[in-house]
Amino acid sequence: MHRLRNKRILLGITGGIAAYKSAELVRALTGAGCDVRVVMTAGAQEFITPLTLQALSGNPVHHSLLDPEAEAGMGHIELAKWADFILIAPASANFISRLATGAADDLLTTLTLASVAPMAIAPAMNQAMWLDAATQANINTVQQVKALQIWGPDEGQQACGDVGPGRMIEPLALAQTLAQQFENKALSGKTVLITAGPTREAIDPVRYISNHSSGKMGFALATAAQEAGAQVILIAGPVNLNTPDRVKRVNVQSAQEMLSAVESHLTLCDIFIGAAAVADYRPSDVATQKIKKHNDDMSIHLVKNPDIIAHVAAKQDKPFTVGFAAETQDVLRYARGKLENKKLDMIIANDVSNQEIGFNSDDNAIVIIDAKSETVFPQATKYHLAQQIIQTISHKL
Ligand code: C5P
Repeated sequence: MHRLRNKRILLGITGGIAAYKSAELVRALTGAGCDVRVVMTAGAQEFITPLTLQALSGNPVHHSLLDPEAEAGMGHIELAKWADFILIAPASANFISRLATGAADDLLTTLTLASVAPMAIAPAMNQAMWLDAATQANINTVQQVKALQIWGPDEGQQACGDVGPGRMIEPLALAQTLAQQFENKALSGKTVLITAGPTREAIDPVRYISNHSSGKMGFALATAAQEAGAQVILIAGPVNLNTPDRVKRVNVQSAQEMLSAVESHLTLCDIFIGAAAVADYRPSDVATQKIKKHNDDMSIHLVKNPDIIAHVAAKQDKPFTVGFAAETQDVLRYARGKLENKKLDMIIANDVSNQEIGFNSDDNAIVIIDAKSETVFPQATKYHLAQQIIQTISHKL
């Protein structure tokens, strides 16, 4: 079920007694880490309330095509684009017939037309209705024309007392079938913790010591790790970048704050990537008031900051730990020294003396170094290199 983590599932519920089981399905999906948005037809609301499904999914339930409030929150086209997968469970005989004709007279039918996401229906109805030639013809049509999958129905005792085909597949089995739809990616089921950007070390309430790190490499790594199927937590220093899609971001300022954010997210983390340019020193005392200029010179006493990555790598059950070595000379020798001294599993060396790459640029050029190998990756975008780094890490796990 780990493949469901972070997946966006649009669950359509139509009118039928099996609709009460959709509540259990929503629980199974959210429990597996899905973001679930429920869309109900008018018929579905006769069997189960939107409030129940809202409480279980943690999201507003959508049911009207022409509701200005819902459209302002997430419009129907936006919702259609949002979904990674559309599952309609239960799918009634009437809904399947409307699907077969390409109807767009309510929110759910409109969404099925507007979305290019893969789709499945879990039919549920009386056995005679399921076996009826009209229903079977509709099933053939939706399978062929709309290329959607039909999951079930199961056979057995029905709510109406009949016995035969027409029972909705049980919620847990539906969730498992849904999980199988998502390919196993390089980092599926893994949690990755990434630090990015600079830190700011306060001198007084208005001044600080920092560096030129843009955070772009760390953010690109977060994007690439998320796309490789991982759950990603990004501990970001002060940077001017948008949070990558589906990444949990924690903003920090100082190295000490970064360390405590890392500490509190480290459990269950499989991979740690220290891409932050952590300030090595901080002022020993932070003035409580703005420091006034008096003398021609002044000095600030600095103390060493904690080495966050070394701290992580020293843990007994440490995650696979990857550091960065931004150097201006003798790049490979310094990088290998850091790999050994900080007890890292891998280090990414880059030459920041070259203005075209490194700190503020969109490009970089790197060497991936571990105990046994050195692999050169020539100049490319940080996103492209992030994908290479993530692939390389996944092969070492
Ligand atoms: O020692 P140096 O700063 O060159 O090492 C760089 C690597 O160590 C990077 O991965 C950086 O994120 C990490 N680092 C850290 N905490 C520090 C200093 C560096 O995590 N205080």
